[in-house]
Amino acid sequence: MLNTTLMFRLRTVLDFYQMSIRTKEIDGYLDDVQGYLLALMAEQGPGVGEIVEIGSFKGRSTCWLAHGTKIAGREHVTAIDPFTGSPEHQPGMSCADMDLAAQGSTLPIFRQNVRKMDLDLHVAPIVATSEDAAKDWSRPIRLLFIDGDHSYDGVKRDFELWSRHVVAGGLIAFHDVGHWDGVTRFYREFMATNNSYEEVLDLFGLAVVEKKRLADS
Ligand SMILES: C[S@@+](CC[C@H](N)C(=O)[O-])C[C@H]1O[C@@H](n2cnc3c(N)ncnc32)[C@H](O)[C@@H]1O
Repeated sequence: MLNTTLMFRLRTVLDFYQMSIRTKEIDGYLDDVQGYLLALMAEQGPGVGEIVEIGSFKGRSTCWLAHGTKIAGREHVTAIDPFTGSPEHQPGMSCADMDLAAQGSTLPIFRQNVRKMDLDLHVAPIVATSEDAAKDWSRPIRLLFIDGDHSYDGVKRDFELWSRHVVAGGLIAFHDVGHWDGVTRFYREFMATNNSYEEVLDLFGLAVVEKKRLADS
């Protein structure tokens, strides 16, 4: 009989492989390794509170997060997006999106993708900008994923509005560090000046920080 550690590692590889195949059907901006890192943090990350995603598009990252939290029977994912795309997704721009041009929203495709992955019970969308959604938010967050407006001011605003709800010991993940100027500039400045967060990883454009507990700072 195989030992428990080997069984666990084999299952991890299998889970990664199967999810990589399934999420390939979802158009989006996250690669498989980044997706699996999100899933692992959703499954096993520290703290108690919701998982909040800013910038869901058609649901690729949402499904990785929801897959992880579903395995562990933990909190659902709140997916915040007006579903009208960023400036770069509009017609004639660098990442122009045909579904968005045709339907004016990625929400129908987002819902369809989440349903197809059998994750509806683990995802609660909020159709609003992060600024508007933040006005009514008061619940604790254990994992915050920032992947909305990629401008410097946009990332800074999302961090300032939402990080206050992250529990001590909780995690914040930033997407596209090193790939988008605004995100990279904000993240580098933030890491150089803050003393309340510690970097956990900065890999493949996904940077993750942990909010220090009072005793740590
Ligand atoms: C790069 S895409 C997100 C990609 C997605 N996480 C994935 O896995 O494919 C950025 C998304 O941010 C959304 N967005 C832009 N500005 C926003 C804002 N102020 N608040 C929330 N979402 C925003 C856009 O509508 C778009 O769907």
